Amino acid sequence: MTEVRLECRPMLASDLEWVVAVEASRHASPWSRGNFDDALAAGYACWTFLERGVPVAYAIVMSVLDEAHLLNLTVTAPQQGRGIGAAVLSFLLDQSRQHGAAQCFLEVRESNLVALALYRSRGFQAIGRRKGYYPGRQAREDAIVMRYRL
Ligand SMILES: CC(C)(COP(=O)(O)OP(=O)(O)OC[C@H]1O[C@@H](n2cnc3c(N)ncnc32)[C@H](O)[C@@H]1OP(=O)(O)O)[C@@H](O)C(=O)NCCC(=O)NCCS
Repeated sequence: MTEVRLECRPMLASDLEWVVAVEASRHASPWSRGNFDDALAAGYACWTFLERGVPVAYAIVMSVLDEAHLLNLTVTAPQQGRGIGAAVLSFLLDQSRQHGAAQCFLEVRESNLVALALYRSRGFQAIGRRKGYYPGRQAREDAIVMRYRL
């Protein structure tokens, strides 16, 4: 696979129309516009990633003491499977390490096999399960809690 070359910049309020549209198309339980407004206002690390000037992914990390919590990582549908998610994850882990985090946590929907494969292949380990954490079409779905030691 050819290496992806991404630029990254802090997410801007003017990105949010695009972000919210991508979010709605890519997640079973999408964040609302208000959730993104809150994340920006709270000072979480909110990033937009571009390839040749075109936005292709975004991510949000909350830091608490020496813990990083990956709250959102999304690649646009046309660009999935090209290594962008892996490149973004690598960037986020590097950033968290540089800012003194010792571990990174995340939650992922049990049925999200692509995301689970991404996180496992990059060294995250499942450390728990939150029963019925996510709404589902028929029944609520568990979240797998994962940890990466930085
Ligand atoms: C999950 C997501 C971020 C992955 O991003 P991506 O750019 O498509 O993934 P990459 O091309 O970088 O692939 C990284 C790894 O994911 C896994 N993966 C990617 N596509 C896959 C597929 N179709 N089937 C199974 N595993 C897959 C592989 O482990 C892959 O590593 P490898 O290429 O070394 O085998 C992206 O699919 C996405 O935005 N999904 C919707 C939102 C979401 O679910 N976010 C995560 C919430 S916790």
